[in-house]
Amino acid sequence: MYFPVYRPRRLRRSSNLRELVAETRISVDDFIYPMFVIPGRNKKVSIKSMPGIYKQSIDNLIKEIREVKKLGIKAILLFGIPEQKDEVGSEGYDENGVIQRALREIKKKIQDIIVITDVCMCEYTSHGHCGIIKDGDVDNDETLQYLARMSLSHAQAGADIVAPSDMMDGRVGVIRGDLDRNGYDNIGIMSYAAKYASAFYGPFREAAESPPQFGDRRSYQMDPPNVREALREIELDIEEGADIVMVKPALPYLDVIRAAREEFDHPIAAYNVSGEYSMVKAAGKLGWIDEELVMMEVLTSIKRAGADLIITYFAKDAAKVLSRK
Ligand code: PBG
Repeated sequence: MYFPVYRPRRLRRSSNLRELVAETRISVDDFIYPMFVIPGRNKKVSIKSMPGIYKQSIDNLIKEIREVKKLGIKAILLFGIPEQKDEVGSEGYDENGVIQRALREIKKKIQDIIVITDVCMCEYTSHGHCGIIKDGDVDNDETLQYLARMSLSHAQAGADIVAPSDMMDGRVGVIRGDLDRNGYDNIGIMSYAAKYASAFYGPFREAAESPPQFGDRRSYQMDPPNVREALREIELDIEEGADIVMVKPALPYLDVIRAAREEFDHPIAAYNVSGEYSMVKAAGKLGWIDEELVMMEVLTSIKRAGADLIITYFAKDAAKVLSRK
């Protein structure tokens, strides 16, 4: 059926009609809100390149989580910035580390919020790499036991899901094994399965004070030109026991999200990373784009590409827009 009998514009005439035939809907249920916790009391430090996002001490974190919950957001992704960094990232798996303390406080004071913790060495190591350094290089197999130890300490402190973001080979299996042996078989793993070596992480590294002190992350994170390799990475993580698999960043890798959606049944998360957030915020501030409309379009595109869950610094802003609709 062709024009003039068929006229696609008929179903675009009003917002009610458009809503009726919308193929993709985003909901507050899809969002995971990343948050940064630091040691101390009554601290709230803004991150220059990420307006609206803060590094904060546990007391202030709790306040913001209450607000997040009121907006209907069901999950947060927690990053810790330790007091001290060292060669082996020991605060990352210390039972009195900042994440572990935060987890205990959150679980004591707040009901019904899913807490996912980022598991990686880079926020805790003095050299800023995601693993243990041996002979000037990140040693894959040596790193695995540290990641497992960190995951276990998060589980013991109350994490619901652990999210390894280091990109070491074999880590999901080792983490799963360690959690299970210790009675944490109900704790989920959301693996950063296809995580690219991306320049879009710049603002995050300012926030987490985690840029590598030498070299870069290209020997462990994925190379941007590859999509078939991403599917192999995701398959490995699923085989090793990942419950949710992630593609990261989101916007420059929508094709990877789509390919993953077509290949796998597992829930797929996409991380709308710091640089993607900063670009929209910056252009919005300059008056070059309509920030709110662009934000909603970006989030819709990630969902349309096939993501089930969206990790985004926009979670609160978008939740407010959605509740007005
Ligand atoms: C830790 C980690 C990073 C991000 C999440 N976990 C940084 C990196 O790998 O350099 C990036 C998140 C963002 O940019 O919003 N490895």
